[in-house]
Amino acid sequence: MKRIRKYALLVLSLFAVGMVANDVYAQMRLHRLMIEKLQAAQKLLEGIALGRYDQIEKQSDELIRISKTAEWLANKNPRYEQFSNEFSRAAETIVRKAKAKNLDGATLAYFDLTMSCVRCHQYVREVRDARGLGMPGTDALAVLTPPAHATKAK
Ligand code: HEC
Repeated sequence: MKRIRKYALLVLSLFAVGMVANDVYAQMRLHRLMIEKLQAAQKLLEGIALGRYDQIEKQSDELIRISKTAEWLANKNPRYEQFSNEFSRAAETIVRKAKAKNLDGATLAYFDLTMSCVRCHQYVREVRDARGLGMPGTDALAVLTPPAHATKAK
């Protein structure tokens, strides 16, 4: 009987360690994704500034790809999903405008895209500040937001 309890405890601890490791790994993948997102947005601006339609299309496609990854979609909060939709819709519009060789249209859609970056981040910050106050959606965002001590230095 004692041995069974020991094994059960061992299995349970392994399970707990696995869960923490999984969380850390998910955080790392998300962080990587955010950096890729920033790089694609920067190269996209370069493409727009220089009127390089192929570059505009390629980088917008990259942003659309990022917005479809499991990490990005892990958050089921309705407000987050709304910003996420605005983000991919703007990126899709940029692709359309680039195909039509409409630089002004692409520039306007790039502005929409930038607004979606700003709004979503504002929202994420708000939720983080309100954490612990029982705000709805806080749990859903927990996966996406590193603990406060990891971000304070920024
Ligand atoms: C739908 C929500 C959403 C949109 C839209 C969005 N982001 Fe983010 N972004 C996040 C989340 C969530 C984080 C992680 C925030 C945190 O934990 O600090 C993040 C983090 C980042 C980071 C910090 C990466 C790091 O960890 O150092 C950068 C840079 C970034 N985003 C750039 C962008 C850019 C550029 C855009 C627009 C082209 C954009 N984001 C649009 C949700 C979004």
